[in-house]
Amino acid sequence: MKKAQAQFEHKKFADQRAAFNSAMEKIIGLGHDPKDYIHHFPAFTGTLTLARVLSLYEAYKNTLGIAGHIAEVGVYKGAGSLLFAKLVQIFEPHSLTLVHGFDWFKGAQTTDEEKYVDNGECREDYNRVIKLIKLQNFDNIIHIHNLDVTQSLGHFFAENSHLQFKLIFLDCGIYEVVKASLRHFWPRLTPGGIILFDQFNHEFAPGETRAIKEMLPDVPIKTFPHGWMPTAYIVKARSPQYEFAGKTSQDTSSLKA
Ligand SMILES: C[S@@+](CC[C@H](N)C(=O)[O-])C[C@H]1O[C@@H](n2cnc3c(N)ncnc32)[C@H](O)[C@@H]1O
Repeated sequence: MKKAQAQFEHKKFADQRAAFNSAMEKIIGLGHDPKDYIHHFPAFTGTLTLARVLSLYEAYKNTLGIAGHIAEVGVYKGAGSLLFAKLVQIFEPHSLTLVHGFDWFKGAQTTDEEKYVDNGECREDYNRVIKLIKLQNFDNIIHIHNLDVTQSLGHFFAENSHLQFKLIFLDCGIYEVVKASLRHFWPRLTPGGIILFDQFNHEFAPGETRAIKEMLPDVPIKTFPHGWMPTAYIVKARSPQYEFAGKTSQDTSSLKA
């Protein structure tokens, strides 16, 4: 049961969501072959879900040609990582672009700050995600790292110091998770690359907004005009001071704390 009733951003589409959910029960009752849900998915999926996919696609498309891998922080059932891997297969079949997904597969560990999210929400089984990836032959593109982002990212990047990203999707709206992610990922985002925030300025994740404002106070934050979640993104600027800065390998110039 939810802690409280959302009243602002989540409420905006409450009527649309309720109508779709009640139709969905009837749609499921129409007796389609389950394979139809896969092969003919636009016939079944909701407009909000499609809008989300289009935002992720647009962000991906805008990073084509920029060096680096793709990261998803918060994998859950694998929708983001698998979408990105499929886009890599479609648009850059001969590139070395990989998708690195980070999750501890325990769901959200909420604090007093999250009024609308339950502890443990969005918990998925690690082995099922790995099976889903392997069954579709994406285990050469997707690498899932089963770790606590707040504790183990430093060690992970010390062990894999070459990793650089062109697109980073932050999708765990808890303050400490977003803060640790920004600390470790921002210096590894190639200038011109994009970092996506699932719930900046959303009542579900006040900690996400707080962490972004603390860590990146002066950076322009954009949004997708057609999209709802991810709610925001930053294109990392190419800083002129690094034109000749051979001795500086990591751009922490705009990152505070
Ligand atoms: C909202 S879900 C991600 C949804 C996914 N990006 C998608 O588009 O379907 C958030 C995920 O963050 C993970 N998570 C929460 N706190 C974490 C932490 N400290 N370290 C690693 N993963 C964490 C949860 O287990 C959950 O799977």
